[in-house]
Order: sequence, then C-alpha cells, then structure tokens
Amino acid sequence: MTKILITGALGQIGTELTLAMRERYGASEVICSDIKDTCPEGPISEGVYEVLDVMNPQAIAATVSKHKVTHIVHLAALLSAVGEAHPARAWEINMGGLFHVLEVAREAKTAVFTPSSIAAFGPGTPVDNTPQDTIQRPTTMYGVTKVAGELLCDYYHLKFGVDVRGVRFPGLISHEALPGGGTTDYAVHIYYDALKKGSYTSYIAAGTYMDMMYMPDALQAIMTLLEADAARLKHRNAFNITAMAFEPEELAAEIRKHIPGFVMDYDVDPIRQGIADSWPNSLDDSVAREEWGWNPVYTLETMTSDMLKQLKNKGIGNR
Ligand code: SER
Repeated sequence: MTKILITGALGQIGTELTLAMRERYGASEVICSDIKDTCPEGPISEGVYEVLDVMNPQAIAATVSKHKVTHIVHLAALLSAVGEAHPARAWEINMGGLFHVLEVAREAKTAVFTPSSIAAFGPGTPVDNTPQDTIQRPTTMYGVTKVAGELLCDYYHLKFGVDVRGVRFPGLISHEALPGGGTTDYAVHIYYDALKKGSYTSYIAAGTYMDMMYMPDALQAIMTLLEADAARLKHRNAFNITAMAFEPEELAAEIRKHIPGFVMDYDVDPIRQGIADSWPNSLDDSVAREEWGWNPVYTLETMTSDMLKQLKNKGIGNR
C-alpha cells in the first residue's frame, strides 16, 4: 500500500505531480499539502488537502500519522533567484524543511523523495557533459542547500536506513503552475510572451546553455525512481537527469517555427546571469539511465509544439 504526502504541492512541480500520482496510485492515496490556507479550485482540490508548514516538525509528524503516510515527496523549497535575494531564509526553509522531513521519515519509517538541482554544481565543475560524481562547489545559497541536502539524504540512508531517493532536476518547463523565482524560468515565460506579445525580452544572455526538461518527463522521473528496485541503485540521491540543453537563441528559433514573426531581445539580469554562468552547460545522465532506466521523451522540438498548443488551449494570447 502506498500513501503519499506531497509538501509544497501547490508549486510548479507539485501542481502536476499531485494529479499524475493520483491517477497512478489512486485519488485517495495522495495527500496534497502546502503552506497556503486553501487549495485552489480545480482538479487538484478534488482530493485531500492539508495545510502544512514544513518548518513545523510536529505538524509534519501529525499529518504523516493521521494519513498513515508511506512516502513523503518533499518539494517545499525556495528557488535560486529568490534564494540569492533572501539567503538566510533560503537556508532556513531548504535545510530546515528537509531536516524535519527526514527526521519524521526516520521516526515513522516512511520513504522520501526530494529533488536536488543543477544548482548543486558550481564554477569548478566540468561544464560539458557534467559527470554524476564530480566537484560540487556551488556559489549560490540555493546551490549550497542543494549539496548539503544531497549529503543529508545520503546520511539518513546510511545511518538510519531511511529509503531516500532524489534527482538533480534541470530547468523545468510547464504550462500549469508558473515557477517561482528560479534562474531557468525564462524558458517558461518566453512561451507565454510569444503567444501574448509575439516578443520576449530575455534576462539570460544569448549563448548561455542550461539543461532543461518538459514537466511530463520530470513527473515520470519521480515516479520511476520511487518505484525502482532498491537493489539496482548504487546511487540513491541526486541522480543527474536531463532531457535537453539549449541557449535562448535556439529556443527562440524553435518558437519561430510556430510564430514566424517572434522577436527576442535582451535585458540581461546580472544576478540571474551570474547564477546561470556558474551552472553546467549539459549534464551526463548515464548513471540514471543505467540504474533505473531514466529515458526522457520530449525534445526541444516536441516540447515547444506541445507547450504552445497547451497554452493556446488555455486561451493564452492570440497568435
Ligand atoms: N530551476 C531552478 C532554478 O532556476 C534550478 O533548480 O532555480
């Protein structure tokens, strides 16, 4: 029996993961939780919703016990750009929240999934085809919390036998909930502006490569890794995964195939550009492919067609 609690479930990933997991494991088996007082109307409100602040360990323990939770998918965290604006808060929430979740998991013997990120790498890391196991000296607070989080997850597995698993997500592109304060968000906003205005001003400079992934592949990654045979996992946490790597001009060119007059210009934000410059250009995800069969479906081409189609269906823009 699987009973899943998702924290931060009203964010960019959780909004879609909640529905995908309800479809896969049964509507009553997935508890959506977030710090917001109410769950927004829509399909997500059709299942159980719990108000849950991950900074409150008693509340996490009570929710786990109330619903007899077997798996916690811990998503509540601040992203990179917000983290640079509020480093102390990022440390507190990202590390505090994870620590509380792991402690509850240890006590209640639940499994945990929590994502790391390409942000766990830094300027000293090989930038192309970045290996699974390599130098990790990030220069953002978000990245610091991601590396420390990876280590903490490994520790809870080694020391206490908690079944903790995780991936290093690249920038995630989706059409349901917007990302909140990341560096890779430009690759989401560009689709909205392309449809609404026929143009986009990028805060990331031309030529800046970053790994990216379309949300359906990200959801599949979480569920496949959760279900993977533990015996096959030599790594457990922080698997490099990617689906594509591109820079803004390549993304714009792909959009232009659908919206021929699309214009892109630049107003580079030095903070987010600095963050992007400190991250890899492209990850090597062969270890995830070997150990649990990671195999993304979407390319830049198929993602772009689908993003534009989905956003048009929602009535975004008129192009
Ligand atoms: N998408 C995230 C960010 O930009 C990276 O994990 O912060």
